[in-house]
Amino acid sequence: MRTLKVGLVIVFCLAALTPAISTRVAALTTTLAQGKASQEKSGKAKDAGQSKQTPPAPASQFVGSESCAECHGAEATHYALTAHSKTRLGNGPVDQRGCEACHGPAKGHVDFYLQIQKLNEAGKEDEATTLMNDAAKAAAAKMLSFKEMAPAEASATCLKCHEGSQGRSEERFNFRRSEHFRHGLSCNDCHSSHEPKRTEFLLKATEPNMCYQCHADQKASFAKPFHHKVPEGGMKCSDCHNQHGSFTSKSLRNSAGGDSACVKCHADKQGPFIYEHAPVKVEGCQACHTPHGSTNAKLLTRNIVKFLCLECHSNTPGIPDTDGTGVGVGTPSFHDINNPRYANCTTCHFEIHGSNKDPFFR
Ligand code: HEC
Ligand code: HEC
Ligand code: HEC
Ligand code: HEC
Ligand code: HEC
Ligand code: HEC
Ligand code: HEC
Ligand code: HEC
Ligand code: HEC
Ligand code: HEC
Repeated sequence: MRTLKVGLVIVFCLAALTPAISTRVAALTTTLAQGKASQEKSGKAKDAGQSKQTPPAPASQFVGSESCAECHGAEATHYALTAHSKTRLGNGPVDQRGCEACHGPAKGHVDFYLQIQKLNEAGKEDEATTLMNDAAKAAAAKMLSFKEMAPAEASATCLKCHEGSQGRSEERFNFRRSEHFRHGLSCNDCHSSHEPKRTEFLLKATEPNMCYQCHADQKASFAKPFHHKVPEGGMKCSDCHNQHGSFTSKSLRNSAGGDSACVKCHADKQGPFIYEHAPVKVEGCQACHTPHGSTNAKLLTRNIVKFLCLECHSNTPGIPDTDGTGVGVGTPSFHDINNPRYANCTTCHFEIHGSNKDPFFR
């Protein structure tokens, strides 16, 4: 019943929003209200649930988007301003054009409501009500509604174009592998096809605020004194992550070694160098840096540089180098670790990411 009520509310809103067609919709609405009231009474109303994936419909069931504006003025007006209006023209298959690309074939829907409208206009309100009461016909006239679809199904509707032929489709090839998909998000959690508060990419809100709605921990990280300039708008979460899913862990943008998300902007840190510092290559930037934000300068994982280095360059005997990479050589004996001069190792080993001159990064 909730769906029906929502539908009614929408019809009323439409009537208010589009004065030009309000008389027609008002007539329809009255009929609908009568129809539903009597359906409710007789207990016959069933959720017309079309949430199952519909099999491919024959081309004859598609009528094009011309008629929709008459009854759905708000959606049609907004739609015309979005990138999707491109699909209205063109030679794509009928099921990939205009409104029907997302809402499915509309022949039955348009015929049904036009017929009721005609009956109303002809003063045959009883007949109109009877038609409305025909639960089977009403159900058959139902369009696909995203509000009633499971997230996976909603995404599949979008992916039929956005995983295949449209634009940068490769951006979304991994959507079904992503944590977002696995946790029940759909495209419509971040995008709105009709009512975006912002038109760029039809997003519901701007980054990073949209992401913060669900990622409060990351909001806290970026509030720390040293952070990438995400809150200031200098860069976006999506510079490092592919929110649509990727091949790497944590949905990081494409990389072979796990750090190309970083070297896109910090190419000088990647090398190749004649003398590589092993962890940069082997473990990646996260061996020493926290990516989001930190209370430590230079986003280091330790507040004093010495402690970071000594994690791997300890003279303590017996630390096994199990994987052959994790632990470096001990510091030379002339290094007096307790001497403040040696607290900041990078004053001497300043080419810490690798060097073309010196094997000890000086
Ligand atoms: C003659 C008027 C009329 C026309 C033309 C019309 N619709 Fe509708 N449509 C309605 C009404 C009335 C409802 C509300 C039904 C309800 O609440 O049960 C509706 C509901 C919908 C819904 C919500 C799902 C549903 O079926 O309840 C979608 C989506 C929709 N229409 C899309 C379209 C599209 C796309 C077109 C054009 C191809 C179109 N409509 C043409 C009157 C119309
Ligand atoms: C890109 C896919 C897409 C296209 C194209 C599209 N819609 Fe929608 N439509 C949606 C989504 C998603 C919603 C759910 C609300 C939202 O996200 O804005 C929706 C909601 C609606 C609703 C609200 C009723 C309901 O319960 O679903 C109506 C009516 C509607 N669309 C009509 C239209 C009409 C008319 C057109 C063409 C002018 C159209 N849509 C084109 C995706 C689309
Ligand atoms: C019929 C194929 C088709 C379907 C189905 C479809 N899209 Fe699109 N989409 C397109 C095309 C074509 C563009 C325009 C690409 C361009 O401008 O290069 C586009 C653009 C977009 C954009 C970028 C908008 C912009 O302003 O640049 C977003 C976001 C988007 N679609 C989301 C969705 C979502 C969410 C759905 C499902 C509710 C969906 N699309 C369904 C074909 C489709
Ligand atoms: C977690 C939120 C989120 C989800 C879920 C999501 N998107 Fe996006 N999408 C974004 C953001 C943010 C951008 C803008 C990225 C930028 O600014 O470069 C975007 C951009 C886009 C674009 C335009 C730029 C491009 O990559 O071509 C399209 C098209 C798009 N999304 C389609 C989809 C489709 C289809 C789905 C579902 C399969 C989806 N999105 C799911 C957040 C999301
Ligand atoms: C400078 C690049 C970069 C930016 C910008 C960035 N991230 Fe990350 N993010 C990473 C890296 C790298 C990891 C993996 C950390 C690890 O594996 O230890 C990560 C991990 C995550 C995780 C997994 C949990 C965690 O904290 O390890 C989430 C969720 C996340 N990021 C969300 C976001 C959000 C939301 C934004 C924007 C507000 C954002 N990220 C901006 C690089 C970035
Ligand atoms: C509607 C809620 C929601 C929104 C909005 C959202 N996320 Fe997520 N995100 C989740 C959930 C749920 C998970 C999986 C559980 C977790 O790791 O917290 C997740 C996981 C992630 C991860 C970790 C992925 C992995 O492979 O471990 C990253 C990175 C991420 N989101 C980035 C983003 C970015 C960037 C945005 C904004 C463009 C965003 N999210 C918007 C809900 C959301
Ligand atoms: C989109 C470009 C971009 C990407 C991707 C990027 N960074 Fe940065 N990074 C910057 C910019 C710009 C600055 C300097 C301005 C600032 O403070 O934000 C910076 C600063 C830094 C700093 C020095 C911070 C300080 O306090 O001086 C470190 C360390 C750093 N990035 C590490 C990383 C790591 C690790 C990654 C990958 C997880 C990464 N960056 C990805 C743009 C980027
Ligand atoms: C072995 C530890 C280690 C690894 C791994 C590492 N860094 Fe650093 N990085 C440091 C230290 C220590 C500093 C501080 C240097 C200083 O204070 O002079 C630093 C400073 C930086 C800075 C800011 C200062 C500058 O020179 O611009 C950036 C940017 C940076 N690192 C990026 C990266 C990137 C990108 C990666 C991965 C390709 C990476 N780092 C891997 C230890 C490391
Ligand atoms: C994650 C572990 C790790 C961290 C943290 C680390 N290193 Fe290394 N470092 C290594 C490994 C592994 C090697 C290769 C040593 C080898 O050949 O056994 C290396 C090599 C070196 C070398 C060259 C030694 C040689 O004989 O070739 C110097 C100098 C060095 N590191 C200094 C530092 C300094 C200074 C820091 C702190 C800013 C630091 N390292 C942080 C693992 C680390
Ligand atoms: C005053 C300058 C200076 C400071 C500060 C310094 N080092 Fe060194 N370090 C050197 C010199 C010079 C060498 C090269 C010795 C050689 O030529 O054999 C060296 C060599 C090394 C080596 C290579 C040892 C080997 O046998 O291959 C490591 C590892 C190292 N330092 C780690 C550190 C760490 C960790 C710190 C901080 C606690 C640090 N250094 C601080 C000057 C410095």
